[in-house]
Amino acid sequence: MSSIHGSARPRPVWSFPEYEPVGIDLGSRAAVAVCDRNQDTGPDADDALLDRLGVTAGSRLVDLACGTGSLVVQAARRGAEAHGVDVSAEMLAFAEARARRHGVAPRWHRAGFLDYAHRAGPADVVTTKSALHQLPGFWKQQALRDTAALLRPGGTFYLYDIVFSFAPDAADTHLQRWIDTAERPEGEGFTHAEYHCRRR
Ligand SMILES: C[S@@+](CC[C@H](N)C(=O)[O-])C[C@H]1O[C@@H](n2cnc3c(N)ncnc32)[C@H](O)[C@@H]1O
Repeated sequence: MSSIHGSARPRPVWSFPEYEPVGIDLGSRAAVAVCDRNQDTGPDADDALLDRLGVTAGSRLVDLACGTGSLVVQAARRGAEAHGVDVSAEMLAFAEARARRHGVAPRWHRAGFLDYAHRAGPADVVTTKSALHQLPGFWKQQALRDTAALLRPGGTFYLYDIVFSFAPDAADTHLQRWIDTAERPEGEGFTHAEYHCRRR
């Protein structure tokens, strides 16, 4: 039986459409498996991050846009109360299967940055990796405000995402150079085709 909860609160129709795919449509099992492989994470990297954030048995961690759930599963394996939140049902199904393989049962929530209804106590740690860029500027601000409300006083927020350091006028050149150098051969990371299908 699935343990993925529908944890979204109603939002006005004019709210940002979080459930419409941005870039690659991750609505297929195959695409999710590729994403998991390319995400270049794993138990060692997750443990290093969890150590750094002070996540131990009994900590409450919320990972927003958890994707295939490796950080959440690793937190649960050390006894934390771990919550993984993502808009993608396929991502959550993959994450849930990963948890089952490791004999842990984190709480999975199908929800977005903007509509996640947190029904547990305040979190000690909130993380989000490689995802906040999906929201335009105003909505990022709203998401960060809502994220702060999840934390206990003195809790820790960890954000990992893309930061561009070039002037706006140089965007075309820099973005093209970045894509040209970031693409990898099939099986070793995101490919040329994957970078070039991100525009919709
Ligand atoms: C590049 S993946 C990163 C996954 C994971 N955080 C990691 O580091 O492996 C981006 C994730 O963000 C999710 N996502 C996109 N927009 C979202 C939103 N508005 N709210 C929550 N999750 C979102 C996608 O479904 C996807 O799982």
